[in-house]
Amino acid sequence: MLQKPRGTRDFLPEEMESRREVERRMREVARTWGYREICTPEFEELELFTIRSGEGIIQEMYVFEDKGGRKLALRPELTAPVLRMYVNEGRTLSKPLRWFYFADCFRYERPQKGRYRQFWQFGVELIGADSALAEAEVIMLANEILSVSGITFSLHVGHLSFMRTLLGELEPEDQKKARMFLDKKDRRGLEDYLSSRGHAGLSERLVALADCRDLNEVFAITGESQDMERIADLFRILDQSNIRYTLNPGIARGLDYYTGMVFEAFAEGLGAENQVLGGGAYRLAHLFGGEDTPSCGFAVGFDRVMVARGEHDLPGRVAIGVAFTPEGREWALAAAKEFRNAGIVTMLDLSGKSLGQQISHISRTADYALIIGSRERDERCVTLKDLRTGTQKELSLFDAVSEVSGGDPR
Ligand code: HAM
Repeated sequence: MLQKPRGTRDFLPEEMESRREVERRMREVARTWGYREICTPEFEELELFTIRSGEGIIQEMYVFEDKGGRKLALRPELTAPVLRMYVNEGRTLSKPLRWFYFADCFRYERPQKGRYRQFWQFGVELIGADSALAEAEVIMLANEILSVSGITFSLHVGHLSFMRTLLGELEPEDQKKARMFLDKKDRRGLEDYLSSRGHAGLSERLVALADCRDLNEVFAITGESQDMERIADLFRILDQSNIRYTLNPGIARGLDYYTGMVFEAFAEGLGAENQVLGGGAYRLAHLFGGEDTPSCGFAVGFDRVMVARGEHDLPGRVAIGVAFTPEGREWALAAAKEFRNAGIVTMLDLSGKSLGQQISHISRTADYALIIGSRERDERCVTLKDLRTGTQKELSLFDAVSEVSGGDPR
């Protein structure tokens, strides 16, 4: 038997229905904040991702050459594609641009619970706004999107400026490495690496910084910086908006394009892969041939949200099955149309077996059976059987539709 590729999943109807419901709620929130949906290609020129995405992502990419000899990659994320699209198509649009996407991404990672090789992101990008309020908007939107998904999570907000001040004394390559250790929360690795590079004392200060939960403590370690007032304002807005968050100067983010505010969210009950959202302020447009454009955004790990929700049965929709004899077929087709027009899930029997066998089959998947024979056809009525109670009534088509419409969902 052939199997699906490692790290991918099949979704049965129940799971798809829950996924679509959560997706619908997220879209709805994004729309009410003025964000509009966009779509980019599933694969892009490889270079788009090698320019500034960072070592981690580059190593995990699905790369291939097409028949024309072009080097392409399946998208491992959407921020770079969206900014490429902005430079290609959106430069003349009035800013700020508020865009969102729901799309699959591909990363060649070791699969485990919450970590897949094909996974979905619900993300937003706010392009062309540069202020504490713009950053706060993106964080508040993230908070609302995660809230409507029905999971318990904690939001951690940091700023790269804090770390940058401490890392300033290092070579750029060492800074990158140090950020990688911090992102992976590998304090031992950080200490060993910095000692081997002759900066033994630095790891202690970095760890102390990462442990700070108060802005004054942070500034006591980093000293004053130019963007201090703006950073303080961002946290002031978050406090005023009453969202719950933790100040976390230890957030380093695994991608290389972030320039300022960075944030992540963690959900309960997910084990090691508990990061359900990541984002921050970044600049990419100038690297893709556009003007330097301040941008800010985040992506929700949609599959992790679904794992964190666990088994959440959504209320099913009322469904009806139509059993009919050959003489009743035409009237059955007409009746089915009426039910569907009223928004009721209606399935015709396809077996052509006896009415008794049809009804018994319908009782496995529906709440009602509509029974139509030559008598119902002649009298232009239907027999409606409530399969949950066993009661059966002869009704006009109109009354049958009203009865089922008013019925309790399963
Ligand atoms: P990221 O942190 O690499 O950021 O990914 C965002 C989220 O996608 C993660 O927090 C995680 O929940 C989910 N995720 C990542 N890898 C996997 C995987 N293998 N399986 C399941 N879920 C996964 C970005 O991609 C940035 N583009 C976010 C962003 C948007 N920054 C600014 N704008």
